[in-house]
Amino acid sequence: MPVAHRRDFILWMFRNGLITLMKLYMTRRAMTNHERRIAITGGAGFIGSNLLLQLLPKYPSYFFVNVDCLTYAGNLSNLRSIESCDNYTFEKLDIRDRSAVADCFERHRIDSVIHLAAESHVDRSIDGPMLFVQTNVVGTANLLEAALRQRERIGQFRFHHVSTDEVYGSLGDTGYFIETTPYRPNSPYAASKAAADHLVRAYHRTYGLDVVTTNCSNNYGPYQFPEKLIPLVIRNAREGLPLPVYGDGKNVRDWLYVEDHCRALDLVFHRGSAGETYNIGGHNEIANIDLVTLVCNIMDELLGGGPRRDMIEFVADRPGHDRRYAIDASKIEKEPGWMPSVSFEEGIRATVGWYLDNEQWLAECASGEYLKYYDKMYGNR
Ligand code: NAD
Ligand code: TYD
Repeated sequence: MPVAHRRDFILWMFRNGLITLMKLYMTRRAMTNHERRIAITGGAGFIGSNLLLQLLPKYPSYFFVNVDCLTYAGNLSNLRSIESCDNYTFEKLDIRDRSAVADCFERHRIDSVIHLAAESHVDRSIDGPMLFVQTNVVGTANLLEAALRQRERIGQFRFHHVSTDEVYGSLGDTGYFIETTPYRPNSPYAASKAAADHLVRAYHRTYGLDVVTTNCSNNYGPYQFPEKLIPLVIRNAREGLPLPVYGDGKNVRDWLYVEDHCRALDLVFHRGSAGETYNIGGHNEIANIDLVTLVCNIMDELLGGGPRRDMIEFVADRPGHDRRYAIDASKIEKEPGWMPSVSFEEGIRATVGWYLDNEQWLAECASGEYLKYYDKMYGNR
């Protein structure tokens, strides 16, 4: 090669090397500059999406990794408004895969997790419990192991486990679940969440891992998959299908608007004491039949026609159906200091309105596999 060409080549190599080095430096700086690096598991699901939509704009100095394998319940379109944010990335990953979880935590230098990924529907757990054991129990154990390894590397790790009030079992006509209520799970879903809660507790007691657990009541709001009562009823009423109410319809749930749950998660994640559990609830008990009637009435008001409550059909009960859930949330109300801010009247109207405004979203969820699921669960009920 002539001397002049060789000099150009060396200069070209030097310039490209410099650019690559600069890029590496900038990436590394961006990684080290984030105040926290948080994995949100199940970030494409109902509560996870709402949580990411709330936390991303609030904490621009944090980096969020959405860890989700996108089951039928995961939907990345929920996150369109944040997907191009600099402090957000998505990792398609199954928490049942132990080495993939460990690798993800190491690569992203994760220092905390808010763990929501789960199989979450009681009826599906009755139909096929083993997937619930694998995802909810083994998946949680994999995350706890990865958390311990990360703590060895970086010196600290906060593990926030998001659980449910269903671990406590069923209440009679009176009384409330408090944090020390004994665990008496009745469905495979509740049992798998209870097992995960116990593992989280054990990793704190045995290994000193910095954990917090929250046990929340039934959530409602935008982006909930239409296998759950409220979106299912809205969709069926829209489609002119029967509105299935299990048993006598007198089972009671304590409903909380999802954004209020997310605010509570934010508070506990930042200010909850290590090793503590916190109950979260809406102070809002309502029997299923009254809830379904209310949704029908709101739809009649917004859309005309009806009365849609005439489409209610009492169907065979769910086996082991818990009668009543109700949360005493005084612990979290006192410290760190949380109260629901959305009244049920406000929240349920906003929710019905959201599903009516987002018919396309609902139609996309309720296609393909969902139709088979619906037929299997309700076809001969
Ligand atoms: P969801 O079913 O809407 O979403 C679950 C998400 O987890 C989905 O995005 C799914 O793709 C993902 N996921 C499932 N298996 C996975 C796996 N193996 N690997 C990676 N990702 C996986 O659930 P949700 O209603 O948003 O509930 C979130 C969490 O909150 C759950 O742990 C649930 O037990 C808990 N919780 C829910 C409620 C409620 O009313 N929905 C109340 C209290 C607690
Ligand atoms: P769901 O939304 O499945 O939540 P969870 O079982 O976690 O409480 O159900 C809420 C209540 O509504 C519960 O008591 C079961 C009842 N239900 C019906 O009556 N009909 C339905 O079609 C569904 C899905 C639930």
